[in-house]
Amino acid sequence: MTYENILVNTENNLATITINRPSKLNALNKATIKELRDAFEEADFDKRIKVIILTGSGEKAFVAGADISEFADFSEEEGGKLAAQGQALLFDFVANLSTPVIAAINGFALGGGLELAMSAHFRIASDNAKMGLPEVSLGVIPGYGGTQRLPQLIGKGRAMEMVMTAGMIDAHKALEYGLVNHVTTPEELISFAEGIATKILKNSSVAIAGAIRAINANYEDGVDGFQKEIEEFGNCFGTADFKEGTTAFLEKRKADFPGE
Ligand code: COA
Repeated sequence: MTYENILVNTENNLATITINRPSKLNALNKATIKELRDAFEEADFDKRIKVIILTGSGEKAFVAGADISEFADFSEEEGGKLAAQGQALLFDFVANLSTPVIAAINGFALGGGLELAMSAHFRIASDNAKMGLPEVSLGVIPGYGGTQRLPQLIGKGRAMEMVMTAGMIDAHKALEYGLVNHVTTPEELISFAEGIATKILKNSSVAIAGAIRAINANYEDGVDGFQKEIEEFGNCFGTADFKEGTTAFLEKRKADFPGE
C-alpha cells in the first residue's frame, strides 16, 4: 500500500511506521489517522511481522497533537464524533493489537501525539523529547484516551497536574514517572528500540498476544483480569508454540517458534 503521510519499512520481522508530516510537526490530521490504521492493520495481519516500532520523522517531533486546523470550527456533536471515531479507528485499535507496538518518541509528543504513544504497549524516548497534554490551553480536554491512559501510567495526581497545567515534561521526568521505559540519545533511539524488538522476536508471538490481552483486561471495566489470565494461560497449552517452547527447553536447545 502507498501512503502520503506515513512511511512503512518492513525488515526482519519488524515493521517501522514513521509519521511523516514534519512541516506540521507530524500533527495527526484525518488522513494520517486513517493511514496509520491501515498500516497497523496490515502489519498485524502479516504473520511475518512480530514487532511494530512507531516514530515520527524529523528531529523535532514525534507528533505535536491532533491537527488543530481540522477541528477549530466543529460543533459539540462533531467534537464528540471526532473523539469516538478516533478512539475506535486508531487509539483503541493500537492498544488492543496482538502485535507488540513500541513508541519511539523522538521529540514533541503532545495531545493526540502523547495519546498515540500511550496507546502503544510501551514507550522509549530520546533525551530531547517533550511530552504533555496541552488540550485545556485550547479550551478542550484530551479526547483520544488521554484522561484514561495517563493516570493508568503515571498515577492520578501527576496526571491531574499535567492535564490542568497543560505543561510539558522532559524525557527524564517521563522516565521518573514511568511514562517511558528508557531514555536514549536521539541518534540511538531507533537502534535501542530495535534491540528491544530483537529480544521480543525470540519469544512466542502467540503467547505474547495472549499476554497483551490478559494485561489489557486489567484496565477494562467489568472484566476480571485474573479470569482472563486463566483463560489465556489455558489456551497456550493448545498451541504449537507451547509444544516447541517446552520441548526445546527439555532438549536443552533454543526454541524455534512456529508462531501458531
Ligand atoms: N495542529 C496543526 N498544526 C500544527 C500542530 C497541531 N497540533 N502543531 C504544530 N503545527 C504546525 C504549526 O502550525 C506550524 O505550521 P506552519 O509552519 O504552517 O505555520 C508548524 O507545525 C510548525 O510549528 P510551530 O508552532 O511553528 O513550531 P514551534 O517550534 O514554534 O512550536 C510547538 C512547537 C509544538 C510548541 C507548537 O507547534 C505547538 O504548541 N503546537 C500545538 C501543540 C498542541 O496544542 N497540541 C494539542 C492539540 S489537541
